[in-house]
Formats: sequence, structure tokens, C-alpha cells
Amino acid sequence: MFEVRNITKTYGSGRTQVTALDDVSFTLDRGRLLAVLGPSGSGKTTLVSIIAGLLQPTSGEIVIGGQPVHLRSAAEAARFRRKEVGLVFQDHHLVPYLTARDNLLLVPHLSGRVSRADRDRADGLLADFGLAERATHKPGVLSGGERQRVAIARALMNVPEIMLVDEPTASLDTERGLQVVELLKQQIHERGMTCIMVTHDPRMAEHADEELRLLDGRVVV
Ligand SMILES: Nc1ncnc2c1ncn2[C@@H]1O[C@H](COP(=O)(O)OP(=O)(O)O)[C@@H](O)[C@H]1O
Ligand SMILES: [Mg+2]
Repeated sequence: MFEVRNITKTYGSGRTQVTALDDVSFTLDRGRLLAVLGPSGSGKTTLVSIIAGLLQPTSGEIVIGGQPVHLRSAAEAARFRRKEVGLVFQDHHLVPYLTARDNLLLVPHLSGRVSRADRDRADGLLADFGLAERATHKPGVLSGGERQRVAIARALMNVPEIMLVDEPTASLDTERGLQVVELLKQQIHERGMTCIMVTHDPRMAEHADEELRLLDGRVVV
């Protein structure tokens, strides 16, 4: 199980201090897709960044499998981020000079060995995400929606424990957006991952297993 316990995050100090998250708590079981909803500025990206370990909370803790993440050693925390966290931000950071397929194979490639299983998984994900015909295209000639799907497929490659996806459907029309959410949900359910998907679109959230609403850094109940 995945737990966010009493997370507070303030930026800056004194008169310019901003409380981005104010005592946020929730739990999420394996195999579940949680949609985090809220208007711009409500703290969604801050929450995802803290869960990803990219940002330290001011107080509170993230607990995974019963263990508070901040108690891990630096090496253990780095390994966790590399192996167990799949991260997709809105600016999806594809490598421009690699094909869609090679973008999926980037991590196995960097670790020195691309196995048959890696290739099969990459081709399977490309097919699932409707990208089989685009496998040998580079990001520059793909549409915004296609690039977004490549980025999600790449994050799913190593079957992370937790997928964190910030506004995955922002550049897509509603129909395409819902397709992406359905594909994501299917992968999460099939492989027993946990997924936190940020969106400001309630129609996307309807397709998630659970919903968390943020307003001014607080959970709305
Ligand atoms: N690095 C930062 N320094 C100061 N304030 C920040 C910083 N990042 C975000 N904020 C503020 O924190 C609040 C939440 O931001 P954010 O988490 O990006 O919200 P969302 O993703 O829901 O739009 C906003 O008021 C934003 O201006
Ligand atoms: Mg944001």
C-alpha cells in the first residue's frame, strides 16, 4: 500500500511564503489508478514532485510498503526512483534523435543490455498505445498526442511500482485523452502497479478508480 501522511509544503518565507500543500493525506492500494483533480495552482505538481522524491516536503511523509521513504539511504532512494517510479511530466522529455521505439528502449540501452524481452515489451506497448506504425518515427514528426503516448509507454517499460503522470491528456482532445486514460488503467490493473494521474479535466477523472480533489493545497472532501 502507498500512503501520503500529513504532507505540507511551503515555498519561500516571510511575506512571500506560499503554502502549496496543507496537511494532505491519503492511501492508495496496489492496482489502483487515482486521479488528482484541482484547478491551476492547487498543488498538484508539487504533490507529484514530492512523491517522486524530486522535492522535499516541509513536513509529513510518504510511506511505501509500511516504510517511510525519507528513512531510506540516499543510495536506496536513488535506486527506488530509478527502478520503481515511472514519471511522466507534461513536457515529456523524449530524446529527439531517437525513434519512438528507441525512446522506449533507452533505459535498457543505457544499462548496457537490451534483451529480447525488452524489445517484445516495447513493441507490445507501442501496439497497445496505437503507435505500431509510428515506431520508427522520431518525436519531431509525431503529433503532440503521439508524443504523449510514447512518453507514457516509456515510463511503463520497466513496470514501475508507482506511475506518476502529470496532466497526461492536456494536449489531447477528449476522445484521445480518454483512450490514453483507459490504456493506462489497463496496464495498471494488469500489472498491479499504482498510478497517480494529475488532471484538471473531470471527464478524465471519471475513468479513474479513485479521485482526490485539491483546492488551495487542501484535500476537498
Ligand atoms: N518553486 C516554487 N516557488 C514558489 N512557489 C511555487 C513554486 N512552485 C509552485 N509554487 C506555488 O505553489 C502553488 C501550487 O503550485 P503547483 O503545485 O504547481 O500547482 P498545480 O500543479 O495544481 O497548478 C501555486 O500557488 C504556485 O504558484
Ligand atoms: Mg501543475
